[in-house]
Amino acid sequence: MSLEIVVLAAGKGTRMSSNIPKVLHSLGGQPLLQHVLKCARSTGAAAISVVYGHGGDDVPEAISDPSIRWVLQERQLGTGHAVKLAMDQADGGAIVLVMYGDIPLIEPETLARLVAAARQDETLAILTIELDEPGAYGRIVRESGDGKTGDVKAIVESRDASEAHLGIREINTGFMAAPRNLLAGWLNRLDMNNSQGEYYLTDIAAMAVADGHHIATHSATDPWEVEGINSRVQLAAIERVLQIRRAERLMACGVTIADPARVDIRGGCITGRDCFFDINLVLEGNNTIGSNVRIGPNCVLKDAEIGDNVEIYPNSIIEASRIESNASVGPFARIRPGTVLGDGARIGNFVETKKTCIGEGSKVNHLSYIGDSDIGKNVNIGAGVITCNYDGVNKNRTIVGDGAFVGSDCQLVAPVEVGAGASIGAGTTLTRDAPAEQLTLSRSPLRTLRKWRRPVKKT
Ligand code: UD1
Ligand code: CA
Repeated sequence: MSLEIVVLAAGKGTRMSSNIPKVLHSLGGQPLLQHVLKCARSTGAAAISVVYGHGGDDVPEAISDPSIRWVLQERQLGTGHAVKLAMDQADGGAIVLVMYGDIPLIEPETLARLVAAARQDETLAILTIELDEPGAYGRIVRESGDGKTGDVKAIVESRDASEAHLGIREINTGFMAAPRNLLAGWLNRLDMNNSQGEYYLTDIAAMAVADGHHIATHSATDPWEVEGINSRVQLAAIERVLQIRRAERLMACGVTIADPARVDIRGGCITGRDCFFDINLVLEGNNTIGSNVRIGPNCVLKDAEIGDNVEIYPNSIIEASRIESNASVGPFARIRPGTVLGDGARIGNFVETKKTCIGEGSKVNHLSYIGDSDIGKNVNIGAGVITCNYDGVNKNRTIVGDGAFVGSDCQLVAPVEVGAGASIGAGTTLTRDAPAEQLTLSRSPLRTLRKWRRPVKKT
């Protein structure tokens, strides 16, 4: 029997107090629903349907995956109604697994066990868990007098539960699996006779029992796996759980993390061994980091590629750039997209770079803006050097040859080229190319006005 998945994601998420559909709120840098879909895909399901509704086309547009079957639920008439809408498209011979778009930490292995139970007995299988505080969850009612032991008889929603049933600690996580044809038959028989006037998916449990089926259950062991998000408080709690897990994965790969509670990994990150990440590091997009890399406090890396033995000093930002081995950056550096910093090169404090290659062993140590430039090897760019790359209309390139020395406080007015081994005197505004090996400088004569006096305050 093949597996098909139905993800319920039509609900409004009232308690998020948001104009954005709940399943598009971000967790670990990705929409909630994306986490659920990633898990769904990894089960090897033959098809995945997502029931959407609140927020309209925003949800399919944000996810933009042509392999997903989008099922519109115009009015949210309940979980049973939502699953029913997806039944027409489901293969008659499939096992259908129901997931929720707002339960993001579920693991594929747990789902595999649930599906295996449904497949083996060709019956309804429910993922349950025991909670000390079962709160508003649906209760799993079993055969014994107190409903706590024996075969499952029914699921009772907390709002419809008797005092005795509210005492049951085993709850319905929402994940269920069943053969498509049985499921479709039960869904057709649902009614709205309950406290919320909705079609409850949970009512199929009693129907299955009435039809003579034995309900299988699988119990989740990790409560976070089945924790849903209804509010921003819950979102923040799950974000921390996810982040700690991601940090632990990096530590297992050989990264020392000063405080795993103060690193945020909002995407993929590949690391080498013996790295050290100090506090308040944010990793966005996809970062690749080599071995023996030290990253100081308060840094942000987005889509960066970092070689081995790189030192990133505090408060630096690196985006869509490559920092080659043995280079160093910061403190307080801003490396904008398209920067390539060569082996052993150095960018110091208050330096901004953009679309610039800086060759091996070159230094831009203090207070500079270097944009749209090709800087050769072993170049020294003095403090306060600015590439004037923008003439108000076009961006122009600056080229500096190997071994050049650009004195402090120069403006390189692009397009312009400094030849290899050239020296540019401090304070020069370079408006034409500077020849190799020569000193070029613009400097007005220095004068001293001997009889000049400071103004005195008028009385
Ligand atoms: C549901 C279960 C409850 C279980 C709990 C676990 C029912 C009747 N109750 O309750 O037993 O303990 O989940 O979290 O199933 N949705 C739709 N369309 C709808 C209604 C809901 O797509 O018409 C989606 C929601 O977006 C959400 C999920 O279904 O992702 C669950 O809906 P929700 O209203 O939160 O169900 P609960 O009341 O929490
Ligand atoms: Ca819920």
